Amino acid sequence: MPEPAGRRAGLAARLTGVTVAVALLAVVITGAVLFGLVRGASEAQAQETLGRQADLLVTAIDRQLAAQRPALLTSLLRRQDIDVALADPTAGEPAVLDDAQRSTLAAGQPVSAVVDVDGGRLLVEARPLDSGRAVVLSQPTSAAGAATAEARRRLLVPLLLGLVVAAVVGWLLARWLARPLQQAAAAAQRLAGGDRDVRLTAEGPAEVAELAEAMNGLGTALAAAEAREREFLLSVSHELRTPLTAVRGYAEALADGLVPAEDVPRTGATVQAEAERLDRLVSDLLDLARLGSTDLRLDVGDVDLAALVAQAGTVWADRCAREGVPLRVELPAAPLVVRTDPTRVRQVVDGLAENALRVTPAGAPVVLAVRAEPGGALLEVRDGGPGLTDDDLRVAFDRSALYQRYRGVRRVGTGLGLAIVAGLARRLGGTATAGRAVEGGAAFRVWLPGPDADAG
Ligand SMILES: Nc1ncnc2c1ncn2[C@@H]1O[C@H](COP(=O)(O)OP(=O)(O)OP(=O)(O)O)[C@@H](O)[C@H]1O
Ligand SMILES: [Mg+2]
Repeated sequence: MPEPAGRRAGLAARLTGVTVAVALLAVVITGAVLFGLVRGASEAQAQETLGRQADLLVTAIDRQLAAQRPALLTSLLRRQDIDVALADPTAGEPAVLDDAQRSTLAAGQPVSAVVDVDGGRLLVEARPLDSGRAVVLSQPTSAAGAATAEARRRLLVPLLLGLVVAAVVGWLLARWLARPLQQAAAAAQRLAGGDRDVRLTAEGPAEVAELAEAMNGLGTALAAAEAREREFLLSVSHELRTPLTAVRGYAEALADGLVPAEDVPRTGATVQAEAERLDRLVSDLLDLARLGSTDLRLDVGDVDLAALVAQAGTVWADRCAREGVPLRVELPAAPLVVRTDPTRVRQVVDGLAENALRVTPAGAPVVLAVRAEPGGALLEVRDGGPGLTDDDLRVAFDRSALYQRYRGVRRVGTGLGLAIVAGLARRLGGTATAGRAVEGGAAFRVWLPGPDADAG
């Protein structure tokens, strides 16, 4: 389950945390490297100084100067934490050096070393004397540490300063990034609350600007959808009211005894026709509502579309003939079997044929066609009627869209047929498109997936 937003750490807190963590890591690594460098440098310097002192001491001994005030010399050196000793390299002295270093010393070469002893490290400078013995100066590295500690303290200040700067920059960055997100969230809440005039200014980084544009698009789309919904409800109520008014009028006339006896059958037939119109409208509405959800049940089986269209053709040929409209049926040579729901496919063909016949003048053709298409089959209903404009084609399958354009201009039904056709085609796994027919009128095409693809 997602955490409620209130309990989550905000973007500002998280980004600040991340920047501080990264800066801290950088400070620790830089500090470790720099401290190591500083220690190495000061040790090298201390060793060099110790070497020079050893050389000086050797000169002093050579010139017999050391013999005059030996205590003064040693105490001067002790004050710098330097230990002085005379050693016999041939007798295993000094103990701090290893065999190889003692042999070097015995061979009359100076030795300069850093040795690990318990409790720390020791800088050792040993110089051979003419007597065969050697003078050995040793100083713990910690004696050179004072300079190191001072250097470290000086390094610590800029490093900590860097850390603070990183935290501040991270916090500012986070606020800069979070602000448009907060605005988008507020806008979404206002949209949810019913305010459709919410508009965000697209600014900041590309992704954030995109978010603002998407929110604005959402607002516009919602407003348009609601306007369509309102218009649809208005047109449906209008369609319901017309037959109801007629039924009520006739019923009142009958009740008041205003209908002469010989007119009663005609009046009854009219009332029945209006009631059937109401019934059709209500079942169309139900179909539409079910198509919008998932509870439209399909009865899928192997269906020969050629046979299905041929059968529809025989029914429609009669109705067309009554209107003086020639009906042509174009079928493939072989059966065209797909897996689909035959009743729903027939509903699609009938809806389209009804539309075509309604607008086609006597003499102009209506064509029912079916043929194999890549991946499936294509049903087509074409006519020689007035056709549809480009603008009409764009909204052809929107509920009531064409109906509202052409009410009063052409013969219309209740304005739900094409929306149902598109919904059924979708539900059967296919698509519905509208275009122009070679016969001069409109062409409606429904593609259905072939036997390999399962409908629904
Ligand atoms: N083949 C066509 N040629 C020209 N206009 C058409 C064609 N088919 C549909 N239309 C126009 O599109 C409108 C909408 O058609 P649709 O089938 O959705 O509703 P309807 O036929 O008016 O009512 P219903 O199908 O619900 O009884 C029609 O009213 C008509 O004006
Ligand atoms: Mg129709």
